[in-house]
Amino acid sequence: MKGIILAGGKGTRLYPLTIALSKQILPVFDKPMIYYPLSMLMLAGIREILIISTPEALPLFRDLLKDGSRWGLKFEYAEQAEPRGLADAFLVGREFISDSPVCLTLGDNIFYGEGMISLLKSCAALKDGAIIFGYKVQDPERYGIVEFDENENVLSIEEKPKKPKSSFAVPGIYFYDNQVVKFAESLNPSARGEIEITDLNNIYRERKQLKAKLFGRGVAWLDAGTHESLLQAASFIQTVQERQGLMISCPEEIAYRQGFISKERLLELGQELSSNSYGQYILEVVKNA
Ligand code: DAU
Repeated sequence: MKGIILAGGKGTRLYPLTIALSKQILPVFDKPMIYYPLSMLMLAGIREILIISTPEALPLFRDLLKDGSRWGLKFEYAEQAEPRGLADAFLVGREFISDSPVCLTLGDNIFYGEGMISLLKSCAALKDGAIIFGYKVQDPERYGIVEFDENENVLSIEEKPKKPKSSFAVPGIYFYDNQVVKFAESLNPSARGEIEITDLNNIYRERKQLKAKLFGRGVAWLDAGTHESLLQAASFIQTVQERQGLMISCPEEIAYRQGFISKERLLELGQELSSNSYGQYILEVVKNA
């Protein structure tokens, strides 16, 4: 399985914060926003990752993340000049995906909670079809919405419906088999001029190749795409981290725990950053390993 992080778009809802930066490089408390979706891919066991962003922001991501080898990963980068839609990730990423299945994560989605790791691992074993998720929200008109029958089969998926048929939103993490490129190529732009992930998911649904799994109420799903939600996400991360003394979505720690890097490498990474609390946390992980 390969992974893609879609980290482009104009970030207009976070203007003027985004005037000089891509929003996915903004901090959510103590680390760049992109660390959170990246961590989800790593926890799923995915090590080959394509980062898609705007021509302006891509050099910033390259500076930050480099080629990934220091974390036992392999990063590639691709430009998306205009936000042509989430499903465009599979056209931009066509060559990267090659003949592999792929997981798409959105650069401003944050997940945290019990059971995530085993769930992600099982999804990353996908060979055929697609897997999306459902998460109960209070404001369903803001999201892609999935409707289930009593056996949790998907009846419908609608993008930002005015009259939502359920309160289950589709979070920004999706697993697809290799048909995804071909299906994305067949999509036409929606009324808002984008090729929609919801239309792509509907192709899988019509072919009875779509599974939707519900995240329980013990999972936190936050999107950090507005001023309010960015601050809420930062407060959430700070509160949980300071209570537990454990970091949420620290790629260095995850790389070590997943066996992507050795303890010696982790020590080097911690020492490089030892002048700040982030590096000191890594050194603490080494000490307790
Ligand atoms: O957050 C989950 C929701 O994400 C889903 O429930 C919806 O079905 C899905 O359409 C999407 O809705 P949004 O309206 O939140 O998507 P938005 O246009 O804000 O884009 C999400 C992220 O992807 C954002 O960080 C910008 C980035 N993006 C977006 C587009 C359209 C790109 O990098 N390129 C793009 O072409």
